[in-house]
Amino acid sequence: MQQKQQTSPKNTRPEPNRRFSIAPMMDWTDRHYRFFARLITRRALLYTEMVTTGAVLHGDHARFLGYSPEEQPLALQLGGSNAAELAQCAALAETAGFAEVNLNVGCPSDRVQNNLIGACLMAHPELVADGVKAMRDACAIPVTVKHRIGINGRDSYAQLCDFVGQVHQAGCTTFAVHARIAILEGLSPKENRDIPPLKYEVVHQLKRDFPQLEILLNGGLTDLDAMQQHVQQLDGVMVGREAYHNPYFMADVDRRFYADETPVLSRLEVMAQMRPYIARHIEQGGVMHHVTRHMLGLFQGLPGARHFRRQLSTAIHQTDQPLALYDQLLQDMEQRLQGRDCERQPA
Ligand SMILES: Cc1cc2nc3c(=O)[nH]c(=O)nc-3n(C[C@H](O)[C@H](O)[C@H](O)COP(=O)(O)O)c2cc1C
Repeated sequence: MQQKQQTSPKNTRPEPNRRFSIAPMMDWTDRHYRFFARLITRRALLYTEMVTTGAVLHGDHARFLGYSPEEQPLALQLGGSNAAELAQCAALAETAGFAEVNLNVGCPSDRVQNNLIGACLMAHPELVADGVKAMRDACAIPVTVKHRIGINGRDSYAQLCDFVGQVHQAGCTTFAVHARIAILEGLSPKENRDIPPLKYEVVHQLKRDFPQLEILLNGGLTDLDAMQQHVQQLDGVMVGREAYHNPYFMADVDRRFYADETPVLSRLEVMAQMRPYIARHIEQGGVMHHVTRHMLGLFQGLPGARHFRRQLSTAIHQTDQPLALYDQLLQDMEQRLQGRDCERQPA
């Protein structure tokens, strides 16, 4: 872990490279998923799930701030709006060695709205600006914001610019923008990720109007060629669901986004390299499913993908020898793929 600097100069740590990042996702991008994803891409910036300031300050630090060093570069995402609490959490994020601390202004859930967390904060740019300023004053790592292009009742481009302008004035220079509005009443969080239309052109316009800012595009991205097109004008892309459901598409990310030609692991090699991690997790009293539930999409699109998914989602609950099941499954997949996994390139 990095050491806290004695002189504590403000926000002097190097910026992580954000050309490709995996979006924060509650219940999905936990430390097990992140360890797994890191075997597929060495360079993508990873985000934790959102952790509320209350959980960080009053909860179990190991649970909310713990990670494996292999996951770096790794950003902590916070949910909250109380400037003093955000500042304390940002300082803790720095001490824990995170490469960045990000504030969630995009989550539309009712539960968080009641606590002034998430997308509802788009109606309170001054509160977000105060929070960002307090966080920046409290830590040397970069402070960033993830937000929507608007919320119902506050969805004009002028209001978006007002939001970004005020938060920028407070010192934030990196904005991850989910290119749809959130509708705060009447839609579930899941519907809020699908129903409001995607408006990539709004994010491109934002970059043209704020060229000095780092603008990252998020929402509905699944195709690497299209993502590369976006980064010709924007500073990076942030991918959520595709990175979870079809993780091996990221085997081409280091080459395409970072010009890093280091050979990538094949899917079978990824599976083999997860084995000691899983064994250690079990030795420490953990349950194998908590790790392997994140791997279900590893073989998507290849022979045996259904068998792999079934074994890890159903058969796993019917055995008291989960590692033996895993070893057998590795053999099964080797046979079913019959060399089709050797080319070390995504399907
Ligand atoms: C299961 C799930 C949980 C999510 N949790 C968070 C979260 O904790 N913080 C956040 O900012 N966004 C969260 N999101 C939203 C994603 O970060 C992302 O903005 C959204 O899924 C759109 O990107 P995508 O189309 O690439 O998935 C979540 C999305 C999903 C599917």
